[in-house]
Amino acid sequence: MKYRKLGRTNYEVSEIGYGAWGIGGALWQGGRDDESLAALRRAIELGLNFIDTALAYGDGHSEKLVGQVVRDSGRKIYVATKVPPKNQLWPAQPGIGIDEVFPYDYIMACTERSLRNLRLEAIDLQQLHVWNPEWIGRDEWRRAFEDLQRSGKVKAVGVSINDHQPDSALELIETGLIDTVQVIYNIFDQSPGRNLFPLCQKRNIGVLARVPLDEGSLTGRVTTASTFPPGDFRNDYFRGDRKRQVVERVNAIREDLGLADGELPEAALRFCFSHPAVSTVIPGMRSRRNVEVNCSLPDRGPLPPETLAKLKHHAWDRNFYD
Ligand SMILES: NC(=O)c1ccc[n+]([C@@H]2O[C@H](COP(=O)([O-])OP(=O)(O)OC[C@H]3O[C@@H](n4cnc5c(N)ncnc54)[C@H](OP(=O)(O)O)[C@@H]3O)[C@@H](O)[C@H]2O)c1
Repeated sequence: MKYRKLGRTNYEVSEIGYGAWGIGGALWQGGRDDESLAALRRAIELGLNFIDTALAYGDGHSEKLVGQVVRDSGRKIYVATKVPPKNQLWPAQPGIGIDEVFPYDYIMACTERSLRNLRLEAIDLQQLHVWNPEWIGRDEWRRAFEDLQRSGKVKAVGVSINDHQPDSALELIETGLIDTVQVIYNIFDQSPGRNLFPLCQKRNIGVLARVPLDEGSLTGRVTTASTFPPGDFRNDYFRGDRKRQVVERVNAIREDLGLADGELPEAALRFCFSHPAVSTVIPGMRSRRNVEVNCSLPDRGPLPPETLAKLKHHAWDRNFYD
């Protein structure tokens, strides 16, 4: 494993972190808690020390599993969680005021709930789960973040940016009030590289690269025949003709890079930490097997410049969350 500084915090975080949405169940079906716990424990054995969870992931279930493993580990593991939007709307909608989404008391109450689920004394990184740039001048989120940090319940603060809208956080970063951003960054969505990443580097803001495998399509395992369990959000994400579109794009990447079967997840994850602005890449990985593969990748280093140059041409502008 290798480590990078998380922006201006003093955290040295592993280049591969743990995306804990999937282990919450609910929108991700087909997992089992005993396997998730074993995967998390194995990740920590392999040097992973950063976990991204959220109060919304299985209504606290993911936080409970994460807290259990972190407490048992006896090591310093950095835990990031998130305050869900009060109106339960992902992503944030233009024109909807902060009083409906992140009122002060609500941010404080959600943080208390997360602390109870995690059974930890403090949260290393508390994030707003959506962001709307119209809220920039509002006092609620600023005061809540300040008071939480002053009380010691939260150590660092950040925002998870709306899907495929990296530039919506530029002004927020300029305020100097947040330590990190979490953003979709993968071979298909390379847009954070244009404006967001250079600004994060300039302002020393930590970057969590989320959905590095495009919810599974960049593992190469989604085929036109793939099915997902009932209730799983991927039924919607990969609905209609989308699986066929994905297979076409994935095959083009494989061909261009000369990848053998099974080599795409490595290329996809190394692509993400090849960018120096990225502090940690947080794939979801509910199995020990995937943990072992992914945690071995930092030792192989970034992708060579000629591979990165080829991958530039595989960016794909679309929004499957719609
Ligand atoms: N709005 C937000 O703030 C937001 C939204 C989405 C995600 N996130 C965060 O970002 C994290 C990552 O995103 P994600 O979990 O949605 O999707 P992802 O990381 O793009 O993809 C996860 C999928 O890839 C599979 N996988 C992982 N490593 C693999 C490997 N080496 N070989 C083959 N398959 C592999 C996983 O399988 P298994 O799980 O079955 O092992 C899972 O099906 C989340 O867990 C969450 O922490 C945040």
